[in-house]
Amino acid sequence: MIEIKDLSKKFNNFTAVNNIDLVIKSGEFMGVLGPNGAGKTTTIKIITGLLKPTAGNVYINGSLMNRNNKEIKGIMGIVPQYSNLDKELTVYENLVFAAKLFRVENYRNKIDELLDFVELSDFKDRMTGNLSGGMARRLTIAKALINDPDIIILDEPTVGIDINGRRKIWDILKYLKSRNKTVLLTTHYIEEAEYLCSRVCLIDKGVIIQDSTPENLKEQLGAYTVEYFDAELKTAYKFFDSKQKALDYSAGIKSSNYTVRETTLEDVFYNYTNRKVV
Ligand SMILES: Nc1ncnc2c1ncn2[C@@H]1O[C@H](COP(=O)(O)OP(=O)(O)OP(=O)(O)O)[C@@H](O)[C@H]1O
Ligand SMILES: [Mg+2]
Repeated sequence: MIEIKDLSKKFNNFTAVNNIDLVIKSGEFMGVLGPNGAGKTTTIKIITGLLKPTAGNVYINGSLMNRNNKEIKGIMGIVPQYSNLDKELTVYENLVFAAKLFRVENYRNKIDELLDFVELSDFKDRMTGNLSGGMARRLTIAKALINDPDIIILDEPTVGIDINGRRKIWDILKYLKSRNKTVLLTTHYIEEAEYLCSRVCLIDKGVIIQDSTPENLKEQLGAYTVEYFDAELKTAYKFFDSKQKALDYSAGIKSSNYTVRETTLEDVFYNYTNRKVV
């Protein structure tokens, strides 16, 4: 459904996206994880036609994406990293504006339905500039859904939002997943990717370094982790395919400061990028 072929983007001499190939199938829930500056937003901007690639192409349902392809834009909903809401309008007016842009029929019903879905019905007359961060994010999601898109692309939908707000957004995304929508999301929150995504792609310095299901990624590294202080009192990690092997290894560690536990997606990320997500 989304096909990215040999995609590169340079800003002057700096390569932000370096020869990416990726196919996201219909109904897949794909998470793109990567540290700051990895090239996530740049890739998303190219997929959504906001930025022209230096090389390579993006195909949506087999047709080439470009900024004028109205047909493709009609089946896509986009939640950008930074707000695309008009602060001078009310919640309701923002959605009317979006509905008119997409020529949505019967839009009043659609808006009522969406406001209910994102739990903003009670705030529909509030000025958008006065919403909390979590509410504004939910409104952005409602706006992205106004044309009932098959493909929804979200760039860090929950960044800076408290855990209650984040869970509300997770519920919304889970519902979209249950409706078999194709979802592509970037996130810094590993637990978010682990909770929601059927497939995870790790990107660093513009390159895809891993691409698989969360389960496979953990298994490839080793399902069990020994985390311990090494001789220089730095935290070290060793990965094993069985708990027994992990326990055997830990028995030989001199310091008492160690744990044996199941490997997490965060370990996978840390192992491949050698730094934590910030
Ligand atoms: N218009 C631009 N001009 C020059 N450099 C740019 C431009 N847009 C992005 N970059 C650079 O490209 C790199 C990738 O940026 P991008 O926004 O795609 O990263 P990201 O993975 O989304 O990071 P974050 O997690 O911080 O949102 C960064 O080094 C950024 O500074
Ligand atoms: Mg970004």
